[in-house]
Amino acid sequence: MPNSIQIKTINHVGIPIWDRRVSLKFYRDVLGLQVIPSMVDSPNIVWTHTLDGTMVHLIEPSDGETLGGSHIAFEVKNFDSAVAAIQSSGYPDISDTGERHDGQRCIFVSDDDGNKLEFTTASGLKPSNRVVDALGYTTEAGTNVVAPSPSEIKISGINHVGLPINNRVDAMKMYRDLLNIKVIPHQIGGNTLTWTELADGSMVHVIDPPKSVGPRGDGRQHVAFEVADIESTAEFLINADIEIVEGIGTRHDEQQFLFVYDPDGNRIEIATRGDHSETKRTADNNGYTSENGVLL
Ligand SMILES: [Fe+2]
Ligand SMILES: [Fe+2]
Repeated sequence: MPNSIQIKTINHVGIPIWDRRVSLKFYRDVLGLQVIPSMVDSPNIVWTHTLDGTMVHLIEPSDGETLGGSHIAFEVKNFDSAVAAIQSSGYPDISDTGERHDGQRCIFVSDDDGNKLEFTTASGLKPSNRVVDALGYTTEAGTNVVAPSPSEIKISGINHVGLPINNRVDAMKMYRDLLNIKVIPHQIGGNTLTWTELADGSMVHVIDPPKSVGPRGDGRQHVAFEVADIESTAEFLINADIEIVEGIGTRHDEQQFLFVYDPDGNRIEIATRGDHSETKRTADNNGYTSENGVLL
């Protein structure tokens, strides 16, 4: 079913963590994410959001022992036709559809490389009286706690996610053909990844081997949070004793970026918004990028 999935934006990402008491010191106190009531029954998930409402779900092991994987959730314009397209796609691990306490509907599927993708409606379709405590534990009644963050970092949303894949020509059958995400020229050196862009300018970068080995495995898998001011962000990170492992760097579209790790070794990028609207670079169908007609 071509063109039946129309993605609006990234609704949320799910990031595996071991212990919210440790992780919230990073995500809430350093990065400034706000804890919000969870709209699912699973008690092991902390819901947070960035300034524009894009959510970050921090997921503890549901059994206390087995750390899960990360996932990215795309909000689609027409959920029912997206479900039909996914169900007839032939991709693995297709879940049943679910509905959350706020009326948000969802379905999961994996790509050929095991990256877990979720598709959702908008959030907040139904009113909810759920309340949350300072640690992200949610109940149906009580007092809602808005835990203050001492952070001066202002994360406006998610700039992009990086997904590890084995072959991006094959991966484009999912991201370009099924999900209709636009392939754009990338703005770095070499040709080891494909940049794709959603309607709202947020991006999905699918990244070929080799693995980029970090404290907890493959750093190709990462979430990039967007800020307006990278310099003051770096200063706050340094003062908070968070090690900047790469950057501040600048990409070809003037996007500035740096990398840190969360307490569990998840690779986290913080980046400004680049402006590649007037780029002279071109990309083929699969994102192989050329400059002045010469393949990078
Ligand atoms: Fe999710
Ligand atoms: Fe990135």
